[in-house]
Amino acid sequence: MEHILINGKIPLKGHIKVQGGKNAVLPILAASILTKEKVRINNCPDIDDVRHTIKLLEMLGCKVFFINGTVDIYPEKVEDTRVSGEHTDKTRSSIVFLGAMIGRLKKTVITKPGGCKIGERPLDIHISSIRKLNVTIFEKYGDIIAYTDKIKGADIKLTFPSVGATENIILTAVLAEGITTIKNPAREPEILELADFINSMGGKIKGAGTDTIIIEGVKELRGTEYSVGGDRIVAATYMGAVAVAGGKVTLSGIRTKDMKCITDTFRKTGMKVKVTEHSIICRRKIKKFRLKNVNYIETEPYPGFPTDVQPVMGAVMSYGMGISKIKENIFENRFMYVNELMKMGADIVLKKENAALIYGKEKLYGTKVKAMDLRGGAALIVAALGAEGETCIEDIHYIKRGYENIVRDLQLLGADIREEITGEDEKEDGR
Ligand code: EPZ
Repeated sequence: MEHILINGKIPLKGHIKVQGGKNAVLPILAASILTKEKVRINNCPDIDDVRHTIKLLEMLGCKVFFINGTVDIYPEKVEDTRVSGEHTDKTRSSIVFLGAMIGRLKKTVITKPGGCKIGERPLDIHISSIRKLNVTIFEKYGDIIAYTDKIKGADIKLTFPSVGATENIILTAVLAEGITTIKNPAREPEILELADFINSMGGKIKGAGTDTIIIEGVKELRGTEYSVGGDRIVAATYMGAVAVAGGKVTLSGIRTKDMKCITDTFRKTGMKVKVTEHSIICRRKIKKFRLKNVNYIETEPYPGFPTDVQPVMGAVMSYGMGISKIKENIFENRFMYVNELMKMGADIVLKKENAALIYGKEKLYGTKVKAMDLRGGAALIVAALGAEGETCIEDIHYIKRGYENIVRDLQLLGADIREEITGEDEKEDGR
């Protein structure tokens, strides 16, 4: 069993170059099979979700080399094969191979990834949108089956700006005959990165980041080299760490224009946040004052407050002075971390309308807690950095899906944090 041990209340000091963006690189890795030529991706984070996606590329017939943050993909031999449950369950983001496989091979069978802990995560928007591109697509016994003789451009209007559905439409339409427009697409920065990546291969995608994306189908795409931007969610996590532990930290390697809602929200806590184009300096003199509460935060599609930062904000507000309300509008079950925070002494009431009412406390106390999902696990690390005494966080495999080395990064900043591996749990009868 692996767990993380943290002794809190040590102010953080120093500089971290933030890892490459998980939610940007995953669709980009899938998009690499849209060409038969070599693709090089730089600044790729070494995280479990990337490792699973690389295994999936190899299963499809690609040769892949991943060394020191650079991934070289040789996709000339992509064979049609079923993207099996073993991969789709390990990382839900594998669903983006649906669009990539249709784009490359005009057919695929992909096992529907199960819902995950944070929500049911249906695929109705993906399926209904791809169907409009002259693709026969249906679900059968837990698989999604899709095939076409010719992908044809179409006008698509999304009922909800789904990130994954927007990515799947782009991946299917980029080699279509004709023009595809997507109305009400997701506008997350990761969509812009995917469009930039595909355009560097010779794609013709305009309007990414706006309310209308226009994709002019091309005959083929060439190889490319592309550097992934910094991970805005990881940067926000480290901002939460400074807010709770105090100190002064510089975060670099990020596009701060993509983080306006995040930096504005952290300023409301009283933390000093200085922003340049690619770096953020966060500072909080821990002795000076308690964190202010932020009365109301609600998660929304970009450019609103990102759902992926919601758990970290819950941890920060657990120390805020006063009452904060956090409303989660994107996923139906993203407050699993609350129970764990309450074991540390946090005072939080979950409301029926998928919201949490947080009564900030001066102190939280270290104890044994469990990561229940990726961002909830990160929130526990943030909370532990401000707690009295030692916190032990179990089930840290969730955290490793998205954080390249959060323990090393926080150690570099002076935190008393380490990872321990213990043997299998003692059997009941002590065997
Ligand atoms: C992406 O998930 C991210 N994952 C998530 O990050 C992020 O929280 C989410 O976008 C929202 O920003 C990756 O990029 C790999 P959605 P995705 O489709 O694409 C519903 C993390 O922690 N929906 O925008 O799955 C869905 O159920 C992860 O890094 C439908 O109803 O998000 C959800 O409630 C977690 N039908 C909402 O839309 C559909 O067909 C948002 O989903 C598709 C989605």
